[in-house]
Amino acid sequence: MAGLELNVQHLCGTKICSELRVPKSSARCPRFVRTIRASQASDGPDLSVSVNGLHLPNPFVIGSGPPGTNYTVMKRAFDEGWGAVIAKTVSLDSSKVINVTPRYARLHASNGTPKEVIGWENIELISDRPFETMLAEMRQLKQEYPDRILIASIMEEYNKDAWEEIIERVEETGVDALEINFSCPHGMPERRMGAAVGQDCQLLQEVCGWINAKASVPVWAKMTPNITDITQPARIALQEGCEGVSAINTIMSVMGINLDTLRPEPSVEGYSTPGGYSSKAVRPIALAKVMAIGQMMKKEFSGQDVSLSGIGGVETGNHAAEFILLGAHTVQVCTGVMLHGYGHVKKLCSELQAFMERHNFESIEDFRGASLEYFTTHTDLVRRQREAIQKKKAVRLGLASDKEWTGDGFVKQTETMVSN
Ligand SMILES: Cc1cc2nc3c(=O)[nH]c(=O)nc-3n(C[C@H](O)[C@H](O)[C@H](O)COP(=O)(O)O)c2cc1C
Repeated sequence: MAGLELNVQHLCGTKICSELRVPKSSARCPRFVRTIRASQASDGPDLSVSVNGLHLPNPFVIGSGPPGTNYTVMKRAFDEGWGAVIAKTVSLDSSKVINVTPRYARLHASNGTPKEVIGWENIELISDRPFETMLAEMRQLKQEYPDRILIASIMEEYNKDAWEEIIERVEETGVDALEINFSCPHGMPERRMGAAVGQDCQLLQEVCGWINAKASVPVWAKMTPNITDITQPARIALQEGCEGVSAINTIMSVMGINLDTLRPEPSVEGYSTPGGYSSKAVRPIALAKVMAIGQMMKKEFSGQDVSLSGIGGVETGNHAAEFILLGAHTVQVCTGVMLHGYGHVKKLCSELQAFMERHNFESIEDFRGASLEYFTTHTDLVRRQREAIQKKKAVRLGLASDKEWTGDGFVKQTETMVSN
């Protein structure tokens, strides 16, 4: 078995696979086959998930950001039982990354004590820690947790050599997959990075080509919601060989203006810059984007081993169920961890299991994508409503003529014509 896995990996490794790269319509090359011991958070329906050859004990993944920023917090995530961890985004030269403080601002619900946080803006950049330090910490984690899924999040400038170098060096740590940050909305686009690539389909196509020719582990492309039609970049990423897409990154936002000082928040020396919006308030927008990608993948990539990771405002197991019902294989949580801590994963798992029990679902695949078919066009809604009204009217009107009376349905037919 081990030998077989080795062969598949070798066959689909960088060199041979890129030479043999076939159009998307043909069978997708399984680049990486990995089997790990599945551990359930608790008894109950099976939460384990298999995506792109990776096996996760549950679908809850730490989203790239502060909760995956160093060895200590990522270790904590594994110890608490998260299904996978995506580290904070790294680039080759962290000296160009200069953060400011304060860099977060919250939106509170108007009632309740303590006031509930419903929205979160950040102007945080990618990791400002030295690349070598992050590599060493990812390597150490994989040595200590060989059967857990660690995903590196990477971002580089529009430069093929830089992308090839970062992929090679990150893969050497033993990470299981790569998530490509094509979506950071602030700071990085000024350097033609992040959302600057994710918002430009031509650039995206070229960069995805470089990445997939080099990478030998699965690649997820993280999408920006700050674009009119998110299915366009998602389609390109998959066509260019990415095994998955993740959506959404944060939404471009201005949290507010302080009406005493007239200065915007978060205020750095009295000034601010638009940032990325996350937390509960973005969930409906994230669901819409995931639904659109889910429909596109179902229509254009069905039967291929491609995956979708849903992100945005997840704080309960029910929220996760909604993303899965729209086609997500995994669900990422970032701000939710900043608000509720790492132990929150146990609650997420038991809530998701309670939802599954309620519907007699035994596995995630039993309901993944099940709600997609209930989205249609507005024109179709009008048609359906008209038909339903006509049906109701027909029932209320009773029999059109006396010749319709039947012996078997006589009592029921009588009832349809009684008024009280
Ligand atoms: C403070 C902060 C920092 C983030 N940093 C990154 C990052 O480095 N790379 C990345 O891909 N996404 C980053 N994100 C985006 C999250 O991974 C996630 O896509 C987004 O916040 C929506 O999910 P949430 O509502 O669960 O936070 C960051 C989010 C926050 C709040």
